[in-house]
Amino acid sequence: MNSTTSEVPTAPIPLSRKPSERGSPDAPASGKTACIRTFGCQMNVHDSDRIRRMIQDAGYAEVQRYEDADLVILNTCYVRENAVDRVKGHLGELNRLRREGRVKRVALTGCIGAAEESQSLQETYNIDLVLGTHNTYELAEFVGLPTMRETYTPELPGTEGEHSAFVTIMTGCNYQCSYCIVPTVRGRMTCRPMESVVGEIERLVAGGTRYVTLLGQTVDAWRYEGKRFCDLLEAVSEVAPRVWFTTSHPSNMEDRTLRAIGERDTIVKRLHLPVQSGSDRMLKVMHRGYKADRYRRKISVFREAAPEGTLSTDIIVGHPGETEEDHQQTLQLVEDCEFDSAYIFKFSPRRGTEAADLPGVVPDAVVQRRFLEVLRGIEHSAFRRNQRKVGNIEEIFVRHGATEDGKTIGETWSGHAVHVDTDAAPGTYVTATIESAGPHVLYARIRN
Ligand code: 5AD
Ligand code: SF4
Repeated sequence: MNSTTSEVPTAPIPLSRKPSERGSPDAPASGKTACIRTFGCQMNVHDSDRIRRMIQDAGYAEVQRYEDADLVILNTCYVRENAVDRVKGHLGELNRLRREGRVKRVALTGCIGAAEESQSLQETYNIDLVLGTHNTYELAEFVGLPTMRETYTPELPGTEGEHSAFVTIMTGCNYQCSYCIVPTVRGRMTCRPMESVVGEIERLVAGGTRYVTLLGQTVDAWRYEGKRFCDLLEAVSEVAPRVWFTTSHPSNMEDRTLRAIGERDTIVKRLHLPVQSGSDRMLKVMHRGYKADRYRRKISVFREAAPEGTLSTDIIVGHPGETEEDHQQTLQLVEDCEFDSAYIFKFSPRRGTEAADLPGVVPDAVVQRRFLEVLRGIEHSAFRRNQRKVGNIEEIFVRHGATEDGKTIGETWSGHAVHVDTDAAPGTYVTATIESAGPHVLYARIRN
């Protein structure tokens, strides 16, 4: 489950295909090595999977450490300023390794690559290749594959042969939220045809995939030839044994979809619906296109459809112009919606967005206090709701195999993250009793 954080919302998902270390028996004869680092959201994790296949096709072995790599690819995120700072740290380190004659070439892809700032980064850090999000095919040429003139389209297959797969159903975004750089770097919405999505999922499931996540910036805005997102979700839920989707926009979220989550056995009862603020005034400034009460109403439909389900959101604190009154309204919404988790973000000005030039900058100390107040509200409801699960016997999908300290991470059908004492393989189910609960995670024990 999501943790409450001010950081980039989604942690990279460990890939089950183990990278070959340099010199290991399965390293290709060419001896070329490459290291891919992924920053940011699940879209990037997914794009990295494609990049991974390209470098493997080009005869590179994947390694984990920069110092073992001939080629390093940084697949980046641009959503907040600290994301750029983190990447700069990595670029500095790579330049040092280059001077020592280790890393030979560096490529930067993803959202920073698509931003204007990438030019100055390329000059400062001598980056060999900078690519945006729409021309990933150029990487093929760079790594020595025959030139592929396909553009970045959602047509390319997702991760195959894994127990969990991410399937992109749309790219880009047609909204213009005041603070958001995504429409600039990812472009306008493109939806992938229904048959293409369902066909890919059928192939994935035949190859062993047990869990499919539908991906996109606003998946619920998906439309294709008269079909809407709920039609696609229903079709997918017929062919996949377990389905989830992220991320959604409240203006597109239909009651029908919320009810399908509750009704369909194969859909995980977990909704991520970013609200950003509880103040109608701020929602207007942000161009979100809905009012707080409309959001509340959607949540009540979801709660009714899936009372055990989990609800998460994104909240921005300290957007320019946010007053104490606006903040209080966000706290009220947090209390009313009883979120199970949230990603809380301190506003970060992104050059090229409307909000970057707005007056009414909120002082850091005020932002910090508001951040903590929202966090406290979220943790309060998350803890209380998690406590209700204690004593339940649950079917748990094993997501990641046991770590060294014996922790296996799984997910209930209600979308709760669970630590469970099992060495069951990822992609399988175990039945366990929930013994205790914290604000972020449940703890379960296998029944004897
Ligand atoms: N500052 C802070 N948070 C942001 N987000 C997007 N852009 C910004 C920004 N400039 C947050 C939003 C979005 C999530 C993915 O990141 O809450 O839903
Ligand atoms: Fe950004 Fe708004 Fe589009 Fe989400 S809906 S990607 S916040 S512009």
